[in-house]
Amino acid sequence: MLSRRAQSMKPSPTLQLVAKAKEIAAQGNDVISLSVGEPDWPTFEIAAQAGIEAIKEGFSKYTSANGIPELREAICEQVKKDHGLDYSPSQVTVGTGAKFVLFATFQMLCDEGDEVIIPAPYWVSYPVMVELAQGKSVIIECGPATHFKITPELLEKAITPKTKAFVFASPNNPTGIAYTSDELKALGDVFKKHPRIVIVADDIYNHLMFGACTVAPHILESTPELKERTIIVNGVSKSYAMTGWRIGWALGPTALIKAIADYQSQATSSASSISQRAALTAIKKCDPDMVKANHLLKERLEASLKIINSIPLIKAAKPDGAFYVWVDISQTLGKKYENQILSSSRDFATILLEKYFVAAVPGIEFGCEGFLRISFAVESERMLEALNRMKKFITKLQ
Ligand SMILES: Cc1ncc(COP(=O)(O)O)c(C=O)c1O
Repeated sequence: MLSRRAQSMKPSPTLQLVAKAKEIAAQGNDVISLSVGEPDWPTFEIAAQAGIEAIKEGFSKYTSANGIPELREAICEQVKKDHGLDYSPSQVTVGTGAKFVLFATFQMLCDEGDEVIIPAPYWVSYPVMVELAQGKSVIIECGPATHFKITPELLEKAITPKTKAFVFASPNNPTGIAYTSDELKALGDVFKKHPRIVIVADDIYNHLMFGACTVAPHILESTPELKERTIIVNGVSKSYAMTGWRIGWALGPTALIKAIADYQSQATSSASSISQRAALTAIKKCDPDMVKANHLLKERLEASLKIINSIPLIKAAKPDGAFYVWVDISQTLGKKYENQILSSSRDFATILLEKYFVAAVPGIEFGCEGFLRISFAVESERMLEALNRMKKFITKLQ
């Protein structure tokens, strides 16, 4: 019955892990999930109220496929404020979450066999999205030696006559590491030599930064010449705690944006009218809430890092942004837990979940073995308890 595409499709490993954790919790176990990719606090009050107002007002019909004009205008203003980039509302399309917008982007970019360069560790969905668009993912391993970032040399080496696009997130999921302006400029110089390549800049975590800058540097700030072939993807899910509202968007060259909007018109008609109103208020009015939330995240990060780095055999560097700690567990691999030798990050995560009731995502799911992704968008006491359990597990290794 199923198509070849259906047979080769893999479900999202992070969502699978969430389901498994729920199953173990349903058996009466106190499971702590460090695997979630969303804030643990609710949507900011005024954004939620805007959604309620939209319902009360009867703002509940289809909108245009590319989204309501006020929201597209607000998105342009935000990008102008953040990066000094000029876009008009006709160069924006709003969709049902950044995930679907990225999915539609690859559908509109790739012909069969077109190559898309993806630095690893990568967000789990990129390769699947590319393959569902009949493209070919070209995974470039970027390990600790390059701080898990692609370098101009690695990029240049990966480019072939079939390269269609390059996709990356900064800050990155799973590492939380962001590219500096100089690093982006160096990558931009490579792209300048290859005018066919489209750059997909996934900015979903760009407002969740813990250092001196409040917004992550952008490749178009350092290489504005790439604007005509760069697509910026972002949304309200992470920074405004609105994952369930499902609003994301893309800004880019008019022809590509129109194609994505047309694709959306056939696939989903439009994003939720109610959510669009809530997203509009979030962008316009919730930056002070976001700043407060970032402070809280930063405090949690410092506390978590201290504990993680006091546990033998594991270590983690401070991320620049997002809400993930990328924990190096490579020294635990090859050790024995009871009668089992830990041979992969998947083994590590399975024991941690099944015996210690802590869910975290194994690095291998992001294309990088020897690591574990921990989300610290988790209440401090629960985090402390989870890390204590992890310590108990690790001290049992022989
Ligand atoms: C790197 C990255 N991009 C995009 C998304 C999608 O976000 P959403 O569809 O909720 O807007 C996520 C969510 O986990 C992500 O981690």
